[in-house]
Amino acid sequence: MSIYFEKTYQRSFGTFPLHGEVLHKAMLDAAAVGYRAFDTAQMYENEAEVGVGLAATGLKRDEMLVTTKVHPDNFTEALFLPSVEKSLRDLRLDVADVLLLHWPPIGEDIAPSLKLLAQAKKRGLARHIGVSNYTVKMMREAASIIDEPLVTNQVEFHPLLDQTVLLEAAAETGIPISSYCSVARGEVFKYPLFEEIGKAYGKSAGQVVLRWILQKGVSINTMSTKPGNISDNFDVMDFTLSSIDMVRIDALMKTGYRIVTRELVPWAPKWD
Ligand SMILES: NC(=O)c1ccc[n+]([C@@H]2O[C@H](COP(=O)([O-])OP(=O)(O)OC[C@H]3O[C@@H](n4cnc5c(N)ncnc54)[C@H](OP(=O)(O)O)[C@@H]3O)[C@@H](O)[C@H]2O)c1
Repeated sequence: MSIYFEKTYQRSFGTFPLHGEVLHKAMLDAAAVGYRAFDTAQMYENEAEVGVGLAATGLKRDEMLVTTKVHPDNFTEALFLPSVEKSLRDLRLDVADVLLLHWPPIGEDIAPSLKLLAQAKKRGLARHIGVSNYTVKMMREAASIIDEPLVTNQVEFHPLLDQTVLLEAAAETGIPISSYCSVARGEVFKYPLFEEIGKAYGKSAGQVVLRWILQKGVSINTMSTKPGNISDNFDVMDFTLSSIDMVRIDALMKTGYRIVTRELVPWAPKWD
């Protein structure tokens, strides 16, 4: 992994559940404040619109880092590679910078889909590959099955949920973690602690949340449609939370607030 990749991937702009004008405006606003990494998925059914949005940013190909994710319905020999080729046509790219398996397959035998993912990379359809929504057990299995480096396991990660075991698995397996639902879809803002801590650094509550995630060694994926929030979410590199503030925020992890529960997403694995 290059330093350029690591630095750019630290702050990705998410595109779920955006479509149409709202999506395009958000992508333009994101590019204007400095975002260069964009995140989509076959499941979001917006890859073609993201392709239009990427072109509209005017960024050169080597200035952007685009992630897409393969839908589990396409985890078969017949469907996997054609589905990635379609994603690339929709995104107007000839290669994905990052290609992820969006969810573990139901039944949880991860080996066949990982092999298909590695094939996509070998065929030149992806520069980097990774996974999403993997448990600790799956991270360990994946690291033993696949020769290629996995650049991320993208999971729900925010201060209201204790994902320490995944961080430990990341250190053990070498598969870094990246976040989604980074501000817990707004739930974090019910806790005054973030604003209170932010005052000492001249930063907003959202920036404190995202900085906490970065200082856990996790890359951030955020989505917003509001220019002020988009700009705030990107502007998180010029301060460092003290270890005391990190520990104060850590205390909220016991809240155990999970958005992507198995009730909401029946195909989710049994979470750690
Ligand atoms: N791999 C997966 O299975 C998976 C699952 C879910 C999501 N994702 C990816 O992760 C991205 C982000 O996750 P998410 O959108 O679900 O959750 P999120 O980033 O926690 O929440 C987005 C919501 O929070 C608000 N928000 C964002 N920044 C804010 C700020 N600084 N202050 C106040 N409100 C703020 C946004 O509203 P406003 O528009 O009003 O700012 C938006 O409604 C998605 O877009 C998608 O690309 C991946």
